[in-house]
Amino acid sequence: MHRVLIVGSGGIGRRHLKGYGLTGRAELSIVEPDAGRRAEAISMFDVEHAFTDIAEADLESFNLAVICAPANFHVPLMLRCAEAGLPFMVEKPLAVTMDGVDAALALVAEKEIEARVGYVRRVAEEVIALRQQILAGKIGSVRLAYLNSSQEFPKYRPDFQRTYYARPEMGGGAILDAASHLFDMLIWLMGKPSDVGCMFDRLVLEGTETEDTCLVTIRFQSGAMANVTINQFQKRNVAQFEFIGTAGNLMIDHSTLKFANDDSGVWKESRDYMDGLVPTEAHQARFKLQANAMLDAIEGKPCWLATLDEARDNLRVALAAKQSWIEKRIVSL
Ligand SMILES: NC(=O)c1ccc[n+]([C@@H]2O[C@H](COP(=O)([O-])OP(=O)(O)OC[C@H]3O[C@@H](n4cnc5c(N)ncnc54)[C@H](O)[C@@H]3O)[C@@H](O)[C@H]2O)c1
Repeated sequence: MHRVLIVGSGGIGRRHLKGYGLTGRAELSIVEPDAGRRAEAISMFDVEHAFTDIAEADLESFNLAVICAPANFHVPLMLRCAEAGLPFMVEKPLAVTMDGVDAALALVAEKEIEARVGYVRRVAEEVIALRQQILAGKIGSVRLAYLNSSQEFPKYRPDFQRTYYARPEMGGGAILDAASHLFDMLIWLMGKPSDVGCMFDRLVLEGTETEDTCLVTIRFQSGAMANVTINQFQKRNVAQFEFIGTAGNLMIDHSTLKFANDDSGVWKESRDYMDGLVPTEAHQARFKLQANAMLDAIEGKPCWLATLDEARDNLRVALAAKQSWIEKRIVSL
């Protein structure tokens, strides 16, 4: 059994508590400063210790920390873990500015501890299949991608005005909170980004100081390009990620992976990886898959969860996107 410390037991912390619990490989403890949330987590999960602050925990007695506090706390929490030599998985995004990021990453490298970032789509079956098919050359060389993730965010997160989402300095908004997942998919599949252009705004949602819409264009070192479109108010729930290669197209439409390589207008292959599953349960199941992947990593087994360096590139794309629109120019990374 691994002793796992979940740092922050809010929305995502609870998903991890459930996910790690279901692995059967973890004994769980939490850090949660909010007394009400701490009590709720204790009542919902089998929790060994509940601390109010990470400073109270004997970090050397744990095998893994899962950092689930809002993103503005990630750098100091990563530093705490690194100082104690404690492997960790930190939730996305890595941070909200570059302040302290390089020092934290350098300490992790110096201490040679396993550390990954919670871009959960990397364990989704349809994304893994997409990656395998791209790597196998099914669509030739990937030169372009169009990604659109747009839905009525308040329906899915009714408390959005009271969470970090409403505050740019805590990592909220369409770019750092939502587009960051898509940037990770692009970095995983298309490599290192080199240039970023963007427009963003708060077009509809009330009661936040963050953008609900972004149109981000990214160029990669390979010369390939991608467009990421997000709005967080439309009624129709769209999640379409199309990868365009020299020999065909692959598209994820929610959980369905499709392939075409002619102009018939008909997809030649189409498979729904969630067929027969309840979407909310399938989403929660990913947190068990991710927990097993992270526990494998600390046992020295292969793991393809996002690295800190990939998440650093991702954060630079997000920050460059904001800078691009504020300064009205394309930003080179
Ligand atoms: N992977 C995903 O799909 C996904 C989904 C939602 C959120 N997230 C990420 O998870 C993080 C948290 O999001 P959330 O939705 O759970 O937020 P939340 O506000 O619901 O919960 C955050 C919790 O952290 C606690 N906290 C604050 N400071 C802390 C500290 N110093 N130490 C320990 N706990 C502290 C808060 O009291 C709160 O209970 C963010 O980085 C967010 O981007 C990821």
